[in-house]
Amino acid sequence: MEQLLRTEMETSREFGVPTKTLQGTYIERIKQGLIMSNKYDVRVANRNDESGVSAVLAASYPALMAAAYSPEFLASAVPLMTKAQPHLLTSGTYYVAYAMDDHIVGCGGWTMERPHSGEVEIGLAHLRHFAVARPWTGRGVGRAIYDRCAAEAKSADVTQFECYASLNAEGFYAALGFRTIKPLDVRMTDELTLASLLMERRLVTQ
Ligand SMILES: CC(C)(COP(=O)(O)OP(=O)(O)OC[C@H]1O[C@@H](n2cnc3c(N)ncnc32)[C@H](O)[C@@H]1OP(=O)(O)O)[C@@H](O)C(=O)NCCC(=O)NCCS
Repeated sequence: MEQLLRTEMETSREFGVPTKTLQGTYIERIKQGLIMSNKYDVRVANRNDESGVSAVLAASYPALMAAAYSPEFLASAVPLMTKAQPHLLTSGTYYVAYAMDDHIVGCGGWTMERPHSGEVEIGLAHLRHFAVARPWTGRGVGRAIYDRCAAEAKSADVTQFECYASLNAEGFYAALGFRTIKPLDVRMTDELTLASLLMERRLVTQ
């Protein structure tokens, strides 16, 4: 809380806005991304973040995946992709980026279990359910969440990350140092597969 108040004060100075106005419309406009702010931090997610994370997924996937997938496909797939996964929220290795008032603007994490199969391979971890709310993209939120993943995975002796990247996110993962291995069809339901890319990155342990 103290940290958030400090952030409000800094933002107040940055934009020349009297602190008292931060209690109302000004905060709302920052949350909606209408006022540019790079003030956010990353913390471990918990079960209480279910609605905040689902809101971020809904404010991210439909808009940003439209660059790579058809409207017909997204109409079926989006409802399946925009629900926070309770097992990730309580995994201890899933994170949220939050701005003022603990308002969640991004999410993502890693697990030792491979998505879907649950298989575990020593040293190999998998990036999971990354998203940044549309108004907050391009401000380093995704990278900040990834950096937290990498730091904590290294401490857990992870030497390699894999991810099943959606086609629109290849550039993001490439910027983080991942290389594309091969196309991959990720099965969502019996009728629906998500055309994806298997990407990987070695983690250098200190
Ligand atoms: C992919 C996503 C998480 C990126 O989040 P973001 O906060 O906008 O990313 P950042 O601002 O931290 O960008 C980090 C780097 O990736 C690059 N990058 C981000 N999106 C990119 C894109 N679509 N193409 C190319 N590069 C991209 C940035 O230029 C930046 O590079 P730099 O740090 O070297 O300057 C976000 O666009 C998103 O939520 N997409 C929709 C959901 C999705 O597809 N998730 C992945 C599922 S596998």
